[in-house]
Parts: sequence; structure tokens; C-alpha cells
Amino acid sequence: MQLTHEEQNVLNGEEGPGKQKAMEILVALGKIYNATRLFPIKSVQVAGVSYNNLGDAGLEFLQQWANQNAKASVPAMLNPAGMDLKNWQNQGITKQFAEKQQDVIHAYTQMGIKPDCTCTPYLIGMQPEYGQHVAWSESSAVTYINSIIGARTNREGGPSALASAIIGKTPYYGLHLQENRQPDMLVKIKTDLKNSVEFSALGYHLGKNYPEKIPYITGIKHATQSKLKALSASIVTYGGPPLFHIENITAEAKKKTVKKPEKQNMIDEKDIKKAIQEINDSGPIDLIFLGCPHCSLEELEKIALLLKNKKVHKETWIATARKTMERAKHKGIIKPIETSGAKVVCDTCVAVTPLKGRFHGLATNSAKACYYSRGTNALHCMIGSTEKCIKIATEENNEC
Ligand code: F3S
Repeated sequence: MQLTHEEQNVLNGEEGPGKQKAMEILVALGKIYNATRLFPIKSVQVAGVSYNNLGDAGLEFLQQWANQNAKASVPAMLNPAGMDLKNWQNQGITKQFAEKQQDVIHAYTQMGIKPDCTCTPYLIGMQPEYGQHVAWSESSAVTYINSIIGARTNREGGPSALASAIIGKTPYYGLHLQENRQPDMLVKIKTDLKNSVEFSALGYHLGKNYPEKIPYITGIKHATQSKLKALSASIVTYGGPPLFHIENITAEAKKKTVKKPEKQNMIDEKDIKKAIQEINDSGPIDLIFLGCPHCSLEELEKIALLLKNKKVHKETWIATARKTMERAKHKGIIKPIETSGAKVVCDTCVAVTPLKGRFHGLATNSAKACYYSRGTNALHCMIGSTEKCIKIATEENNEC
């Protein structure tokens, strides 16, 4: 990989060990992927925030790096943490865990990363523009900004994203290159996808059956942000690459900078129903979770309407970015949710908070939440619409 004179100096340690470590990571990554050079980026989103996943080894690694005076040189935010950073008691988190989690956040803030912990930075002021190069980590966010906005990022790991934040550059390979953003297959949807669950199911079907293939999807006339978030989260979770195109909807398809492939695969109602069946497994439900990816203001508004004048009878968490929650609070959206007994949890989600042994069955509207709750927290999972999840939460003696 060709380095500039300045980059070589950083690699030689002339600007201190913190920057040197960051450059070493980027150069190693560039060599693995045959990148020819480093390329400037506009923003970073860093994964590897939950103490539940990092443990003491990860925390010490971050603290050491922070103590080497490494500082972010471009705007950077964080992925969800292992708890609501302010109301962690509300989630049943132990003091010991909370202290360790705060230490992780402290190490990141010491490095100049904003302690906004969310998988939807694009909803709280860090929205890249079309064609802009960034280095983001969280898979749903990476897929959303690549596909819907037409920004350019690979799916970074935690250390490589942090290294990019410090250097302000990323190796130039993969989805940064126009030729790698071309679709590999044409997919015609022969059914009307009604809600986010069906978009989630489409992502599951595509990811599972066509891993590594970038789809060019036709047959979708309209899709709300909520549905596109759901598709972005599930396709990449179940094996697909972090990029898809939808005719007349996603940025590069609209601008016609990608070419529609010829060979066509069909997806019909049967495929979507089968996907939903496969995502589900049965068993009693004791946790309802909405907000994967983190709820937008519109999604919170819908949930508030559904919960108005009702009481939940099961533990119910609605996850969102803290800034989205603050905006919603200002508009009076949070009160009806909390009055129902449901909890609005910020900064975190079911995939990264310690739930193992505390809950057994999850109801959610997200295929991605099912995947990680099963894997990380050993929950069995039911996927259903937002309306269905709220019904389960508010019905007494529900036998799900
Ligand atoms: Fe976000 Fe967690 Fe889902 S990071 S996309 S809410 S699994």
C-alpha cells in the first residue's frame, strides 16, 4: 500500500504511540484487502462498546490506547452500550457492571468520541451525504447509509473504526470503490410487503439464500424509513452484504449509477411467510422489545399511540437514541409510553445488554433482534408487527 510522507511518519511513531497504533491497524487492514492507499473519511461510528462483549481485556485495551493520547480527528459516535447510561437501574443492571460500562465510555470520550450510543447516528445529526466516504461499524447502520443514502463504507470492526477516527482515513477498498457497488442479481418482489416485519423477512430471505450477492430489487413501490431500516438490519444479519438497491427508492438506483442485472429471481408471498415462520420459535414470552434498529421519532409516536391509556403486563422495552428520546419527550411522546409501564431505554439494546438467565422469551418486530437475542442471550423469539407486540405486552395472562 502506498503511504504519503506524513502517513509514513505516523507509522514510524513520530506522532506518538496512539496514532502509530491506529496507523498500524489501517495499514494491516489495507494489506489484507489489497488497498492501494488510504482515503479521507468524513465520520466514524465505532462498535465494541458494551462491557458485556468487551470484558476486562477489551476495556484495558481501550484505556491503554486512550492513555497514549490518541484523539479522534473526525466526528465519531458510538454503537449501543450494555445499558442505559443514565437509567441503568431501571433495566436491572448491577452496579458492578454499570461501573465497568462507564469506564468504557470514559475511555472513548477521552479519545474524543461522542458518547452518543446508537445504531441510528443518521437520525441524530450524523447523516452522511450521497457519495461521501465514512468508516462505520454497526451492520444495520452501514447497510442503511450505503443503500438508502448512497454513502460509502465497509463494515468496519471496532478497532479499525476507532483507528479510522484517529487517523481520519480508511483503506481504499471494498464498497468505497464504484465497481464493487454494482448489483449481482435482480430480485422481483411479487407481493405487497405490508409492514416492517415483512421487510425484515425479505432481508432474512435474501441474506440466507443469496449470501454475498448485492440485490437489485424491483416491485416495491413505496417504503417508509422504518421499513428500510428493518430491511437494512436483517439482510446483513442473515448473511447478505451491507448494500442493496431498490428501483426508484435507494440512492444509486435512483441516480442510475448502478446497472440493473438481467437474470431475475422472484420472491412471492410464500417466501415471506416461510421466512417469518423460520425466524420464529415458540415458548412463553416475558420480554417485549421494540427499537431494533433504534426507534425513530415517528416509530416512538406510533408506539405511544398504541400504548395510550393501556398498561403493560410484561417487561416492555422501547429502545432509541438518547437524542431521539429527548426530542420525543419534548413533543409529549414519551409520557404515554412510560405511563403504560413500558420502559424507554436509551443507549442500548437487547443484543448487547446482559439478559441471559433473566428473561426467556422475546417478542419483537425485528428479525435482527431475534438473531442476536437467541445467540447472545439464549432467548427464544417471536417476530410480530409493532401492533402485535404491543397487544402481547398489554394483554393479561397472554399465553404466547
Ligand atoms: Fe441496533 Fe441493537 Fe438492533 S445495535 S440494529 S438495536 S441489535
